[in-house]
Amino acid sequence: MAGIDNQERDTFSGKLGIIAAAVGSAVGLGNIWRFPYVTGENGGGAFLLIYLLFILAIGFPVMLAELSIGRRAQRNALGSFRKLAPGKPWYLVGVMGIVAAFLILAFYSTVAGWTLEYLVQSLGNSFAGKNAGELSENFETFHSGTFRPLLWQMIFMFLTAFIIFSGVKKGIEKYTKILMPLLVVLILAVSIRSLTLPGSGEGLKFLFSPDFSKITWNSVLMALGQAAFSLSIGMGTLITYGSYVRKDNHLPGIAFQVSLSDTAIAILAGVMIFPAVFAYGIDPASGPGLVFVVLPNIFAQMPGGHIFSIFFFLLLAIAALTSTVSVLEVVVAYFCEELKMTRAKSTILAATAISVVGVFATLSFGPLKGATIAGKTFFDWFEYLTANIMLPLGAIFIVLFVGWYLGRKAFSDEITSGGQYKIAITGLLMFVLKFLAPMAIAMVFIYGLLGGSL
Ligand code: TRP
Repeated sequence: MAGIDNQERDTFSGKLGIIAAAVGSAVGLGNIWRFPYVTGENGGGAFLLIYLLFILAIGFPVMLAELSIGRRAQRNALGSFRKLAPGKPWYLVGVMGIVAAFLILAFYSTVAGWTLEYLVQSLGNSFAGKNAGELSENFETFHSGTFRPLLWQMIFMFLTAFIIFSGVKKGIEKYTKILMPLLVVLILAVSIRSLTLPGSGEGLKFLFSPDFSKITWNSVLMALGQAAFSLSIGMGTLITYGSYVRKDNHLPGIAFQVSLSDTAIAILAGVMIFPAVFAYGIDPASGPGLVFVVLPNIFAQMPGGHIFSIFFFLLLAIAALTSTVSVLEVVVAYFCEELKMTRAKSTILAATAISVVGVFATLSFGPLKGATIAGKTFFDWFEYLTANIMLPLGAIFIVLFVGWYLGRKAFSDEITSGGQYKIAITGLLMFVLKFLAPMAIAMVFIYGLLGGSL
């Protein structure tokens, strides 16, 4: 390779670097509040079994496909398609990824900002002595405001931009290598505290006992959607990260370890939340309420609640931060490589533009509550368009691209690092990429269009 390919391209230093970064991306708000409640409402153990099957049979191959595209092309999400399929419309998948990154970050940073407010409230021990009604009122007043939610969102965007600004090795890799082990320690500490509460067994039963009577077609599709969102597939995040992976790193091993870690942390999140919820006889609520209302209520009553509330909201903020970093990098890499801007300029421009869009998401709970289109606020639309439409479509096109366009020879060359490693399941992976994954994801997509939430 010559010319532009020889430009010094920042990379991860090795296997540990890409694993920390990719696990950081995968483990996010999706794992910590969405996974436990979705699992709980869909039959617990039975749902978990289906979810695990999807992670293994579909999530893992799709993740590997995305990483392969990026590492082969050595480009951003859009540039990768342009390079591997010159003159073909495949680059539109990259365009959709960039747009999705804008919208995801806009609404994700709203909720990420809330985690900072709650971290500060925890530090001030402000849940102590409040009852459920007061804590619900507390959340209502805060998140429907204007100044504080916006301020926290901007601070969160600033933190994200700061890490991205510092580069791949000195930014993303350096911070995820510090933050992810910290997250694991915190989640283990809170899980153990939760498990040692009297009556925690009920929560575990709720989470793990397989109740197949609760499994419906809908819950199967929910499992697939959750698996895709949780692994950060379908948007080009892993194409971008894949482009920073060294040629001699074992790509299937990386994809496997990332899938496994993300799943383990989702299960730990369930172990952390449900025993506590059941120990205090609280109904497992869904959505933002579970984390921002129910958990503060539990911390207010629990011995050691002050310190564990700090741990919990700190780990939630960390989980969100290492995910927002991975979304911002998609846009910044695109600005740098395709629009030939410096990293500094790209970061400032992308973060500012996204923050402007983000204001609409944040104010959707307050001043812009009434600004709805077809009953949905800006926040709802950003979430709906990305999770239910762009991600499934992106994932389908990514597997079709690798399965049918790149083909077996190039894919096999990439995952074996040019024959350096032996991969025994290449044929099986190709079958999944060509047929199984596109069909399964298409079902989720159609279901999403019919009105169900992913
Ligand atoms: N996986 C993250 C979570 O569970 C969210 C996320 C980060 C994401 N980057 C992504 C989702 C790219 C889809 C695509 O919270």
